[in-house]
Amino acid sequence: MDYLKTKKLLEKYSQLQLLDYYGELSEEEQKYLLSDISSVDFSVLENLGADHKKPLGKISPADAITIADMKAGREKFEEVGLKAIREGKVAAVLLAGGQGTRLGSSLPKGMYNIGVTRKLTIFEQQMNNIREVTDRAGVMFHLFIMTSASNDSATRSYFEENNYFGYDPSKVHFYVQKLAPACSKEGKIYLDEKYKVSQSPNGNGGWYSSLIEGGYGPLLKEEGVEWLNIYAVDNVLQRICDPAFIGATLLSGCACSGKVVSKVSPEERVGVLCKEDGLPNIIEYYEMPEELASLRDEKGELVYRYGVILNYLFSVEGLNKIYKNKLPCHLAFKAIPHIENGVRVTPADPCGYKFETLAVDIIKLMGSCLAVEVEREREFAPVKNKTGVDSVESARELLKLNGVKL
Ligand code: UTP
Repeated sequence: MDYLKTKKLLEKYSQLQLLDYYGELSEEEQKYLLSDISSVDFSVLENLGADHKKPLGKISPADAITIADMKAGREKFEEVGLKAIREGKVAAVLLAGGQGTRLGSSLPKGMYNIGVTRKLTIFEQQMNNIREVTDRAGVMFHLFIMTSASNDSATRSYFEENNYFGYDPSKVHFYVQKLAPACSKEGKIYLDEKYKVSQSPNGNGGWYSSLIEGGYGPLLKEEGVEWLNIYAVDNVLQRICDPAFIGATLLSGCACSGKVVSKVSPEERVGVLCKEDGLPNIIEYYEMPEELASLRDEKGELVYRYGVILNYLFSVEGLNKIYKNKLPCHLAFKAIPHIENGVRVTPADPCGYKFETLAVDIIKLMGSCLAVEVEREREFAPVKNKTGVDSVESARELLKLNGVKL
């Protein structure tokens, strides 16, 4: 797009400030900026000022399989799950497009070293978890890795340099998620540099549409992949393509399922899998009315106790029906570095908005979802922060508890 066309486009969206420094730029930078602006998804700006807070519908508990049910049915579930893996019906999708700002490392989050006496990165630990399943099944499943523009090449190189951690490279497929612009409170898109628009990953909600746009639809079809297990990069105890989880889901007839852990208290800050007006939904902790969050059953257990850990199994058939539907766009108020009066500033406090769609919003569209309860100490060690809650420290303790040598 040339300068005049770009100017016209920006006028349409009242974003002419993106060309404020155009005259100062080198020819190469000018070209970069024009091309960068042409890649911007301006439609996200429509979400500014919109009232997204719809009143909650009628909340009821999710269809669930408890830890006790899992124990009782384990043999059957594992048999069904392993069969599906051996038949190539299951693949995994690692969501690794996030920026991991809370961890404060410039490397992809998966490259964070959680080792103590030896180097052990999050990616390596998760690949070790995968190998436990594939060794048992005797086959390797396809593994898709979603990255974003800022960490794609570092992630690919890291896997390549480490020989894919012993995994079959022909089964590992990378794809890049989309970006969304970041803007000020007034809705003006920021410049990250004078020649570059401020853009960041647009949330994990587009994981399937980006996979299809990345050209992997035919591969799923040819290989007969019927189920996709998506998981977050930041849980080092993540059990991926867990045969019992797969088996329980397949036998339930649900279109998707999510691993859940029982909340430790009504106040715990996790999203809860339940039903809203009969459809599965994940209600964030800040949306859940207090009386429901603290409601207990006759055994004294929290009725709405199933906290999600970002490990879901989706039927590909179900996804194909709904993935073109528009997902709600969530606004995150964040500290965003940007150019201000000709100088790059890095604010300590939130100053503007980022736009994200979320994988949890896909659950509702799927129509049915099984909550599969797992043991927290065995499967949930999130690495979100450097210290304190859900940190490198707490994850290390949990890894040790599970016999992982650090
Ligand atoms: P988080 O919501 O924890 O976000 O991601 P984050 O970007 O990793 O970390 P912070 O909030 O900046 O500290 C949960 C999972 O979703 C993935 C992340 O990589 C992680 O596995 N994710 C998040 C994406 O793949 N893309 C995104 O745009 C956002």
